[in-house]
Amino acid sequence: MIAMTLADLAAAVGGTVVDGSPDTVVTGGVEFDSRLIGPGDLFVAFVGAKVDGHDYVPAAMSAGAAAVLGTRPTGVPAVVVDDCLAALGRLARAVVDRLPQLTIVGITGSSGKTSTKDLIVQLLRRVGPTVGPPGSFNNELGLPHTVLRADRSTRFLVLEMGARGAGHLTYLCGIAPPTVAVVVNVGVAHIGEFGSVEAIAEAKSELVRALPPAGLAVLNADDPRVRAMAGLTTARALLVGTAPDAALRADRVTIDDRGQPAYVLVDSNHSLDVQLRLSGPHQVTNSALAAAVALELGLPWAELGPALSELRLVSTRRMDVFDRPDGVTVIDDSYNANPASTAAALHAQAAIGRGRRRVAVLGYLAELGGMEREGHEQVGRLAAELGVDRLVVVGPGAEPIHDGAVAVAEWGGESVVVSDQVAAVAWLRGELRPGDVVLVKGSRYRTWDVADALRDENVVAV
Ligand SMILES: Nc1ncnc2c1ncn2[C@@H]1O[C@H](COP(=O)(O)OP(=O)(O)OP(=O)(O)O)[C@@H](O)[C@H]1O
Ligand SMILES: [Mg+2]
Repeated sequence: MIAMTLADLAAAVGGTVVDGSPDTVVTGGVEFDSRLIGPGDLFVAFVGAKVDGHDYVPAAMSAGAAAVLGTRPTGVPAVVVDDCLAALGRLARAVVDRLPQLTIVGITGSSGKTSTKDLIVQLLRRVGPTVGPPGSFNNELGLPHTVLRADRSTRFLVLEMGARGAGHLTYLCGIAPPTVAVVVNVGVAHIGEFGSVEAIAEAKSELVRALPPAGLAVLNADDPRVRAMAGLTTARALLVGTAPDAALRADRVTIDDRGQPAYVLVDSNHSLDVQLRLSGPHQVTNSALAAAVALELGLPWAELGPALSELRLVSTRRMDVFDRPDGVTVIDDSYNANPASTAAALHAQAAIGRGRRRVAVLGYLAELGGMEREGHEQVGRLAAELGVDRLVVVGPGAEPIHDGAVAVAEWGGESVVVSDQVAAVAWLRGELRPGDVVLVKGSRYRTWDVADALRDENVVAV
């Protein structure tokens, strides 16, 4: 963070300085985990359901914290507020206001936010100092935390923005107003909370609506609900994707046997052969969106080809393809799942597993609300239609995946439902053969152990 006195901090967040001089300066970062505190940092003492951050003030101070942001005095220099989360947002906004050189890029979508964010960060680092969140820090806590890492040397601030309801993105954009908005897709992720796809589209569109007239909306041309957002802003809209009318178009897409896409990236003046070293057809969209942002923000076309081919997977458990010494190829996409991202992963597996036996270990897809049964069945149907050889459905909640698959009359594969992850690993231990291509996917932690077991070569003996 930029250096701020407690007096400045208190003014920014509407709080009161207690137990210390208003001239005390916070010179470091802002952390709410006392274990991450370093010299000069501000420790934010959140009161959670289980832990009270104020209990960790002594630990934070001995780690070098300059001061505390909390909801009650603890005998050390602090700014006391009513609501730490709101204060964190206000502080982040105050920092943004002091950094006029920043270009803020906001990214939203139902799936692919983190993946696309990681690509945009990698490309923009070639243009100038860039700050982006680790992993999936995309909410009212993670976003200001990321913003507060920016300082006077930062040129680009890349922010993943998640929405679990109406008004969420407007709130996040109020903290860090983007001039570039990227919308990856509108799917059924979190539909349980939203109620309908239309409500999801409406919530995602808040990012585009927040753009200033001189801003830029980078929109997935292949998603009708995202395209339609061009009409919601006076900012310029750039359609990106494989659609014929995309201003930046990924043409002649092919996927090799590592699931790695190649395509020709074209605009009205350029044509560039792109070979990605990332797996999955969805990386075509993600990388083209990232290329659009980078080109707009100063990466020359001449540097784009190598830059795209050097993109790497940054956040774990997302289409992480690795070969085991025994000849089994694993696609670890276990970070999270919804019907769209599972479809993308199954297509990738079909490409990687051409001519090989394909085993798909699929767990429960969370947060589908009224679409729960249909969503799971749809995934099972697709797995069968794509000719998966063995389907291992993990946990009773995921059973409709099995139902969807076995309902495909012409499917020659087999499906089993296993009770949990341990049973899935046991099944794999007995059934896997060298040469198999195994996809592991489910909602959060539901299939992580299976992926981890496959990573540890000793667990599954083939
Ligand atoms: N453009 C895309 N379309 C569909 N699926 C995608 C796309 N990009 C990534 N995915 C897949 O979606 C899953 C989630 O990816 P990622 O973590 O990037 O999404 P996210 O939007 O950040 O998710 P979250 O809401 O959990 O933060 C992964 O399995 C990933 O491979
Ligand atoms: Mg994410």
